[in-house]
Amino acid sequence: MTNLLQDNLIDKSTLIKDWARGYQSQPNEYNYWIDEIEGTIPDELKGTLFRNGIGSLEVNGQKIGHPFDGDGMVCAITFDQGRAHFKNRYVRTEGYLKEQKKGKILYRGFGTQKSGGWLANIFDTKFKNVANTNVIYWGDKLWAMWEGGQPYQLVPKTIETIGKDNLNGLLEPNQTFSAHPKIIDNTFVNFGVQGTNSQTLTVFELDEFGNKLQETSHSLEGFNILHDMLVTPNYYIFIQHPFTIEGLPFLLGLKTIEECLNFNPQGSAKIIVVSRQEPNKMKILETESFFGFHHGNSWEKDGKIYLETICDNKFPKKKQAELNFELTNLEDLPQGKLWQFTLDLSEGTVTRKKILENGCDFLSVNPHWVGKEHRYLYMSASPTPNEKGLLQTLIKLDKKSGEQKVWSASTREFPGEAVFVPHPDGVEEDDGWLISMVYDASLHRSYLIILDAKNISQSIAKLSLKHHIPHGFHGTWTSKVFI
Ligand code: CO
Repeated sequence: MTNLLQDNLIDKSTLIKDWARGYQSQPNEYNYWIDEIEGTIPDELKGTLFRNGIGSLEVNGQKIGHPFDGDGMVCAITFDQGRAHFKNRYVRTEGYLKEQKKGKILYRGFGTQKSGGWLANIFDTKFKNVANTNVIYWGDKLWAMWEGGQPYQLVPKTIETIGKDNLNGLLEPNQTFSAHPKIIDNTFVNFGVQGTNSQTLTVFELDEFGNKLQETSHSLEGFNILHDMLVTPNYYIFIQHPFTIEGLPFLLGLKTIEECLNFNPQGSAKIIVVSRQEPNKMKILETESFFGFHHGNSWEKDGKIYLETICDNKFPKKKQAELNFELTNLEDLPQGKLWQFTLDLSEGTVTRKKILENGCDFLSVNPHWVGKEHRYLYMSASPTPNEKGLLQTLIKLDKKSGEQKVWSASTREFPGEAVFVPHPDGVEEDDGWLISMVYDASLHRSYLIILDAKNISQSIAKLSLKHHIPHGFHGTWTSKVFI
């Protein structure tokens, strides 16, 4: 593995500038067949990759305060007969339409205040549903998802916005629906959290047509940031990292939610395990403090539950009020590591071990292995173990042998989440492809990289876009062709 920094191929400030440029807004919406292709798109790769992320970090030149608050922009890349079609489109949320019309920021956000000081923000607790975090096709519906509200339904073929979807009345107006659903055995499992210091966690299961199979509610103590979840055949699993929140400065318009959040590195993390068959049975196990947004997979074996999650010793808070990625210090960026936890419900114990020394994020597995013991885990990772770095490689970790296979981007490139696309006739766990959107700062453009999941070090095809797409969050694959 190359150590990009030690080899002096690029100095740290250039690296940060390159990465920061990948956050420039993309105001344009495109629709074209990709014609700049190196390598060959496999004929069997047939379907659509949907991907969500921020399209813009400003409203009419006014900068928002945090990337979580950027308007969602969905990309759809359709693969058919060895060709690929690209389109991107902003989600026309209520907030997006209102702000575009007024030409200024009208909403507070996770790290955004309206201009005009505290007087302009006091008692305003209404956030903009930015629909920017994930996009998933389920039950003949395409949803752009954000964890603080209802999903926005889009037209799969055109990615035009239809509007907020309450799932045939399943979601009450203030019921949230997270951006990290899990699909296990053709069942869609998702959750939502309501309240601040005393919260209600609601878990939903939907069948393949989007109809409700089960809905359960659970009371949680304290304040939780539940961004992701895990599921096994018998359990839902949530991780509650130790946070407190000072509600008053937020209510009085003095501080953003981000500024009011306090992570406690000396506290303890709680693992919440809920029975799917008997949802009133909930067990909470405690372990040492850590923070991480994302989990990998979870499974049951020999009476125990296993899970993978990212563990960091801090919550990433931005240092300056203004959003300026060029001022980011590499040392301050999250460098969470991958750990595997073992839960013993009868003993009430948690044991854990680190399984990768590179900083990493965006964990993915073959979707057919969700909730089952799996061998391979894919992720975006920093290039060098035990060194601070940006996510510039994709790693395939063989958990059985401990072997890692790596695809390295070049020194000025930044891959996002690698989505696992199963081969239509696949038998083995790694029969399929990884597809990731990569930002190339040298050209200020993005490309899609297609890797063979069996051997990821050499790419199969590189599909260059005519423009850049800002660093994004999450996406999913469907074998349906929408064109
Ligand atoms: Co996420």
